[in-house]
Amino acid sequence: MKLLSNDVKNYFKKHGTVSSWWNPEEGELKFHYEKEIIILEENFEIQSNWSVLDVGTGRGRFAIWFAKRGCKVTALDISEEMLEIARKNAKLEGVQEKIDFVLGDAEDLSNVGKEFNVVCCMELFDHLPNLDKAVRKMANKLVTGGYFLFTYVSEDSVYWKLANRASKSNLARAYNTNYLLKILNGNNIKVVNLFGVGLLFPVRIIYHLFIPIWMCKLEKKLKPYYHHPFFVKRCTHVLGIGVKMCKR
Ligand SMILES: C[S@@+](CC[C@H](N)C(=O)[O-])C[C@H]1O[C@@H](n2cnc3c(N)ncnc32)[C@H](O)[C@@H]1O
Repeated sequence: MKLLSNDVKNYFKKHGTVSSWWNPEEGELKFHYEKEIIILEENFEIQSNWSVLDVGTGRGRFAIWFAKRGCKVTALDISEEMLEIARKNAKLEGVQEKIDFVLGDAEDLSNVGKEFNVVCCMELFDHLPNLDKAVRKMANKLVTGGYFLFTYVSEDSVYWKLANRASKSNLARAYNTNYLLKILNGNNIKVVNLFGVGLLFPVRIIYHLFIPIWMCKLEKKLKPYYHHPFFVKRCTHVLGIGVKMCKR
């Protein structure tokens, strides 16, 4: 597993860094990130009276998604700039009243309330220097029976095997699935579902590899996501749904 430098947080705090490359609702990979939303729409029943903590909200796509379904959301990010973008997006979608925006660190969370029904941490695990600490803080914010939603990059994914080889960046890391499940389990989060998103197409786009176009079309159009464990861990991203259990 690749280790992250301690500078990673300073990178994300700086203006013009993450905002320059993170825009999942535009560009060629839009279809890929949309699948994460499709998974939730098809597999996760929301109650409109829920409170939600969205950690690493970015441009606010999940905070807005929950707010549109009636939930009260706290959207936290380490980047002032990303929070500003998320605030604007929430206003455009007419849900700014439903979202509190908080500047903070996933490994701290001392400046947000407690007792959330859902903690959502999407596309952030790979940028956290201390995942164990962050998961502990996030799990502590959940009511018993509350849901923990997350994504991660599997170190067995086709994407990571190529990215790891090609990139010298120390801003992102991947995880071994068993190691990750152990961390979650150790913090009383029982993972009930894992879904794999994007086996081939993102790899073809990012690395311009020769992968037959019919395979990519099939994946893009017919395979919104994968269930079988063999494919799940080989996908570009894995989305997980966990439940907070009683303390042992
Ligand atoms: C790749 S983006 C994902 C955004 C959003 N969750 C989504 O899926 O669209 C990661 C976000 O996490 C934020 N971030 C990075 N490190 C963080 C930390 N330690 N605590 C809180 N947010 C962090 C970044 O500023 C960025 O906005």
